[in-house]
Amino acid sequence: MNATIKLENVKHFPVLLNEVISIISPLYGGTFIDCTFGQGGYSKKILENSSNKVYAIDRDCSSIKIINTFKKKYQSRFEFENRKFSEISNLEKNIKDLKGIIFDLGYSINQIKDPEKGLSFNNKGKLNMRMGLNNFSADDIVNKLGQKELAKIFKIFGEEKSSSIISKKIISFRKNKNIQTENLVDIINSVKKKRFSKIHNATKVFQALRIIVNNEISELISGLINSFKILPVGGILVIVTFHSIEDKIVKFFLKNYSEYKNVSRYLPSRIEKKNLFKLINKKPIIPSTNEIKLNPASRSAKLRYGVKLNNHFDFSEFTKKFNYLLDVEKIAKGI
Ligand SMILES: C[S@@+](CC[C@H](N)C(=O)[O-])C[C@H]1O[C@@H](n2cnc3c(N)ncnc32)[C@H](O)[C@@H]1O
Repeated sequence: MNATIKLENVKHFPVLLNEVISIISPLYGGTFIDCTFGQGGYSKKILENSSNKVYAIDRDCSSIKIINTFKKKYQSRFEFENRKFSEISNLEKNIKDLKGIIFDLGYSINQIKDPEKGLSFNNKGKLNMRMGLNNFSADDIVNKLGQKELAKIFKIFGEEKSSSIISKKIISFRKNKNIQTENLVDIINSVKKKRFSKIHNATKVFQALRIIVNNEISELISGLINSFKILPVGGILVIVTFHSIEDKIVKFFLKNYSEYKNVSRYLPSRIEKKNLFKLINKKPIIPSTNEIKLNPASRSAKLRYGVKLNNHFDFSEFTKKFNYLLDVEKIAKGI
């Protein structure tokens, strides 16, 4: 499967909204954490039921107008915290009667349209790509890291086949001046002269940069583990992924800790793993043809969910499995 998605076609309205709501509605009458508030599409729908409360978080608080409207309208039924979801276990307020935690990964339409955020290759000027609460930008990555490090980021996070040559050209360009968004696009176009597919030449490199700038891998891994810690037994964890690297992580997290498996077939005692989640659907839920027609970007979305069955946890196998991705993220630590 292709790991990259076309940001220009990104969702204009909440993806898989009806599916998310029908999954969580049997648990209505409590608090739901919306880990990715965005434009508030999911939160709004959950709050339509007056027995529900929403504790929303987002690393970007530029939707402050929407947040304030929600506060006014829903009063004590709605709280917002400007925070990264990796820190979900350190929220300011105690959450009572937690029923579910929802992640809708990716970018909101406002973020994509914001030229200052520079998430798209159609932007001009200084590279950025910070969603909010970041330590460095795409400008730091592209203008400060070495050739081998850049190549690794483009290859692993973007699955870019020309990662080596693109990174060499970046280093050579940098000798004369700092690379801006349009320069980076020109460099990529000069390497990948012909377009073999419908996706823009720069799609893969830009995806890789967005992943590293926003620490998307460690955010997701910590977000899932910490959500599990605060979710009561019987609570539901719902995740809508946006690209295949995210889905790989979510799939492993839910599946590996869901089915009874023998740790090793060579062990005489047939030790079995704990069942941490009940999975209702083994396969991900994907948008209907109708939704894809209305919103072409939704075609890359995948919804997976599980109901928590017990409190036992040891996620060392999970983090170990994705160490190769976490190691790439660490490349930017020294910036
Ligand atoms: C696809 S949008 C969510 C759209 C939302 N479901 C709606 O209906 O409007 C994703 C949101 O997640 C936020 N986000 C991404 N990574 C995050 C993280 N690590 N912590 C907190 N928020 C994050 C982004 O800032 C963005 O606003």
